[in-house]
Amino acid sequence: MIQAQLSVCRELRRSALAFSVLLLTAGFLPAADLTSGTAAGKPVTFAKDIAPILQEKCQECHRTGSMAPMSLVTYEETRPWAKAIRQRVIARQMPPWHIDPTVGVQKFKNDMSLTDEQIKTVVQWVDAGAPLGDRKDMPSPKQWPADNDWKATRELGPPDIVVKSEPYTMAAHHQDVWWRPVSNIPLTEPRWVRAVEIRPGTLAGRKITHHAVAYLAQDDPQSILPGTDADNRGRAMLMEWAIGKGYDLYRPDTGKLILPGAQVSWDVHIHAVGEEIRDNVEIGLWLYPKGQEPKYRTYLTAFQAIKGRDRARLVDIAPNSISESQNFTVLRQPAILENFQPHMHLRGKAMSVEAILPDGSSQVVSYVGKFNFNWMTNYIYADDAAPVFPKGTIIKVTAWYDNTKANANNPDPDQWVGFGDRTVDEMGHAWMNVTYISDEDYNAWAATHKNRLTATR
Ligand code: HEC
Repeated sequence: MIQAQLSVCRELRRSALAFSVLLLTAGFLPAADLTSGTAAGKPVTFAKDIAPILQEKCQECHRTGSMAPMSLVTYEETRPWAKAIRQRVIARQMPPWHIDPTVGVQKFKNDMSLTDEQIKTVVQWVDAGAPLGDRKDMPSPKQWPADNDWKATRELGPPDIVVKSEPYTMAAHHQDVWWRPVSNIPLTEPRWVRAVEIRPGTLAGRKITHHAVAYLAQDDPQSILPGTDADNRGRAMLMEWAIGKGYDLYRPDTGKLILPGAQVSWDVHIHAVGEEIRDNVEIGLWLYPKGQEPKYRTYLTAFQAIKGRDRARLVDIAPNSISESQNFTVLRQPAILENFQPHMHLRGKAMSVEAILPDGSSQVVSYVGKFNFNWMTNYIYADDAAPVFPKGTIIKVTAWYDNTKANANNPDPDQWVGFGDRTVDEMGHAWMNVTYISDEDYNAWAATHKNRLTATR
């Protein structure tokens, strides 16, 4: 029976038309059973089976001095959390990778999720009483880079340039603040950027920094998005960062140009958390080697889910209700979508990005069904999986909001919620780096990717 339901469900998933049905019912469909069956067929122990998983998928954040609330390095540290771990991994809330693995793009550069097999192993271990096993089976402790707070370091080495904002002191109790200092970028010649990462200057700063946008202020009309309907308020952007986000790494031969004299114009959203905290934000820039000029520019774009323009966006969420908003953006040139980062506030529940092609067919690009405000995770598509669309494709973004008490992040389900910058107001857009290509390049790509063009429809 369950098997039959699963295969029906798979059929549904193949059909983009049925996608909205899927979304409505997603919460009720039988998930793959992660709680039974033996993963390895023999007793699961911490030393042999669990420690390697924690090293690979958890300790980047769960170790002393890193961002998570507890360390999951030794058995003694991990044991008290066994039940919580079981619950978080089954719900796929931890690691914080909340994209639906069954629809849309499925290969990512920064995938940190657990495999079904790993989840089963963890569950089995907890259900068996979370035994240590034989200490001799423990893997040797994982070595972490000294400067690990730049997440991209592991892949790219340390950043070439770090630009810091002026610090800001947030009082213990205060309204939200938007801090907008300007910092110089120390460059004396034009250079191309291949990766960017923003972070608060200190761990304490992470508590108060909801998001930070680094606009690129320089005299270069080409660094601004070529005429789309998307909302960047006419400014070039280096990066947007929000709680939990990693870095942006552009595909080979793609980048952003920074000219001498350029500045970072910051827009940092800070909120009070009950203690006074002083911190700055900073952006790390990884450059292409001198003289190397990538062929394409990439533009960070906010594809809106909410109708209206600029400040006058039409989101209207009644108390104790679930609601939906949807908007459309036409691609004026053929384009590659490089990543997906859903952005909503406390009532955010889910977001989908679909593409409606000029021939009328449509594809699901990505769907995050378990959006959690604490995690603005950036899903970076693998180079060979990033979707490529012809001119005239419509990007359709749908956002769902949960203003009921079922939403653990909801501060007050009895409030009416409208559009705004405060975390208690709402927004809804998909941040995507868009690389525009020529018609010739698109045609060449389409000729060699006939399977890709039909496979995901
Ligand atoms: C990208 C960083 C990151 C990764 C990777 C990560 N965590 Fe977490 N984890 C956090 C942070 C930050 C919190 C606290 C905020 C929250 O609950 O979302 C947390 C919370 C938790 C909690 C809840 C703690 C509580 O107070 O109840 C559990 C359990 C947990 N993580 C387990 C895991 C496990 C197991 C893994 C690996 C399979 C993992 N996490 C991977 C950052 C991370």
